[in-house]
Amino acid sequence: MHFFTTATELRAQVSAWRHAGQRIALVPTMGNLHAGHYSLVELARAQADRVVTSLFVNPTQFGPKEDFARYPRTLGEDRAGLTAHGCDALFAPSIEEMYPFGTADSVCIEVPKISEPLEGALRPGHFAGVATVVCKLFQLVQPDTAVFGRKDYQQLLVIERLVADLRMPIEIVAGTTHREAGGLAMSSRNQYLSPTERETATTIYRTLKAMRDQWREGRPTDAIEATALSSLRAAGFVPDYASIRRARDLETPRDERNGLIALIAAHLGKTRLIDNLPLDH
Ligand code: PAJ
Repeated sequence: MHFFTTATELRAQVSAWRHAGQRIALVPTMGNLHAGHYSLVELARAQADRVVTSLFVNPTQFGPKEDFARYPRTLGEDRAGLTAHGCDALFAPSIEEMYPFGTADSVCIEVPKISEPLEGALRPGHFAGVATVVCKLFQLVQPDTAVFGRKDYQQLLVIERLVADLRMPIEIVAGTTHREAGGLAMSSRNQYLSPTERETATTIYRTLKAMRDQWREGRPTDAIEATALSSLRAAGFVPDYASIRRARDLETPRDERNGLIALIAAHLGKTRLIDNLPLDH
């Protein structure tokens, strides 16, 4: 597997592949890779001849009180794991390489509307940081396709809108959420959890499934949301939201019975966890 830290080296390799007529897939990550990330690499492999994974803990998408400094950085293991999963190139740039004019003076990409509810309301500036870094990565790699996880569902919608609005010729492919045996969605942040918290954290997925069951029984969404919030509180979480939204735009549903999704964000001790479950199937 190639390992690049500069845009110049990466671009030279990517353009050699492109000239050889090869299709290129990009998997953007912040590293500390787990089976969920590797499943995206495999999905990328199925879409393209060459897979590039980026590993960059992007400072602009973290709020001032968030976990940028303590975010787990495990480059050695990630590099070995990516090699084992058939990734062709790892791009792990420095902050200076991604933000040559500094983070404060960087071009900033705002994706209005879809960035505003839920995560956007709780993490101001988060999606601008995500859209900016993903836009920069797309410019550098110019992939034919890019793979994102449904685990970060709102992020996926933000990226889809970014690509559609800027008419980027990049196909966005969505990967399903990988879970631990107990149902907890895999996340680099899970390692902040103590063993007891890890057990408690499985409540999130159980609550999402309960929301889906109640919705199938025809219970009104506001009652479902209220019950979900109290179950989370009873288990020891401080929930940010437990919400049923329209999957295509995250607006509050009116009378729709199709195309809905349940989403949860909740704090457990010092860890903030998110997850979601489509209600249709
Ligand atoms: P990160 O949290 O490292 O996630 C990288 C990709 O892996 C994202 O597309 C995310 O949705 C996906 N992913 C995370 N957990 C998953 C799971 N359990 N199953 C399947 N896919 C999963 O998301 C980011 O990084 C950043 O915001 C990024 C897009 C790289 C921009 O900085």
